Amino acid sequence: MMDDLMFGRGTVGGPFTLTDQTGRTRSDSEFRGKLMIVYFGYTFCPDVCPADLIAITQALDALGPAAEGIQPIFITIDPERDTKVLGDYVAAFHHGFVGLTGSPEEIRQVANAYKAYYAKVPGEHEGEYSIDHMGAIYLMGRKGEYLGFMPPQTNPDRLTEILRKYLAK
Ligand code: NI
Repeated sequence: MMDDLMFGRGTVGGPFTLTDQTGRTRSDSEFRGKLMIVYFGYTFCPDVCPADLIAITQALDALGPAAEGIQPIFITIDPERDTKVLGDYVAAFHHGFVGLTGSPEEIRQVANAYKAYYAKVPGEHEGEYSIDHMGAIYLMGRKGEYLGFMPPQTNPDRLTEILRKYLAK
């Protein structure tokens, strides 16, 4: 799947209809006219997700008012645990974040469309788990088309530079 992303094989992204942190139904089509940053992660993620979400937030802050042209979206890959916590979690990063959830099947379908890999890893104690996942930061265009992805731990300055470039197009 990583190869598909890296070498542009097949389509990446596509329509989705999920539920946001306030319980509203949201679809990709309402974000037309804006760039979309799409990130798949989970709130219990110990390191990769918070670091990338901080980088996204710093980049959006660095862009100032131009950031209005970008819709950051966090899609949980852990819908069973990311229920009420989702709203507070995304708000702790950037106020503009839409946090999305759905049934495990719905999430899997959207993640597959984005070629976003994830798998549960059992923890030490019964019922515990973490989720192994790829932390790609997807960038989608104003018509919902796939522009590319930035690898996990992309530096915020680099991210700002890329976003500025696409905002200017
Ligand atoms: Ni993570």
